[in-house]
Amino acid sequence: MKTRIIAITNQKGGEGKTTTAINLAFGLAKKGKKTLLVDMDPQANTTGLFSNPDTLEVTLYNVFSQGRPMKDAVIQTDEPNLWLAPSKITLAEVESMGQNVDAPYILRDALQSVGEYDFIIIDCPPSLSIFTINALVAATHVVVPAQAEKFSIDGMTGLQTTINSIKRRINPELQVAGAVVTQIKAKTVLTKTILPVVSQFFHVFESNISAGVAIGESHLARKSIYDYAPDSKQAKEYTDFLEELLSELKA
Ligand SMILES: Nc1ncnc2c1ncn2[C@@H]1O[C@H](COP(=O)(O)OP(=O)(O)OP(=O)(O)O)[C@@H](O)[C@H]1O
Ligand SMILES: [Mg+2]
Repeated sequence: MKTRIIAITNQKGGEGKTTTAINLAFGLAKKGKKTLLVDMDPQANTTGLFSNPDTLEVTLYNVFSQGRPMKDAVIQTDEPNLWLAPSKITLAEVESMGQNVDAPYILRDALQSVGEYDFIIIDCPPSLSIFTINALVAATHVVVPAQAEKFSIDGMTGLQTTINSIKRRINPELQVAGAVVTQIKAKTVLTKTILPVVSQFFHVFESNISAGVAIGESHLARKSIYDYAPDSKQAKEYTDFLEELLSELKA
């Protein structure tokens, strides 16, 4: 099977990218899929779930700034089948490399020598920076988490334009798997306000994620929702989302 590389992207902050990336990666690993979770965000929230980013010697910073092989940065997690390509705040220093002609291709090149994975899940920062561009250039698919209460039409337009130009110029195989609506407080908001707008831009997954304290608690406990609260509504919703995504990707 060809590796599915899924960029979890939305340039707005707090939309549920990191939560979705983490739980998607754990869900895949628990299904026996060999998975690499790539933290493309200098905020390093994903990395922080597994270790203290400040103590890591080799991270994506070294891959981006010094051409270190990705293999040197990847660490095995305590979860069977799950590996992490960690980030740390110093990654922000290389953001200015956007002027370099090779800049958009660093992640794609680095992933070529990382070994065989069934899935690579990339958590993106809340910007259309060179890091998001790297993710979209490397990816086979995009998933767009969109927060139910605060989504923005301007944001959707910008993201769609960026995806389309990367598809046209650099990565013709890139496909938008769809948008997943997160942090839903009331279903009526979803059906009346969110769906009609978001679906003008992207296919919207039928599965969506409701707001619940279990998610924030799981981050504090540094666990996936499956390990922190396996019986929670959100654990079931993330499983439904995973199954819907897999059937769409025929994986
Ligand atoms: N389903 C949910 N229910 C309740 N809280 C949630 C849910 N999903 C995410 N959150 C919370 O919302 C906040 C933002 O989520 P998250 O970090 O996943 O978003 P993000 O898009 O990665 O943010 P950033 O743009 O800063 O990287 C976090 O505090 C998280 O705990
Ligand atoms: Mg995040």
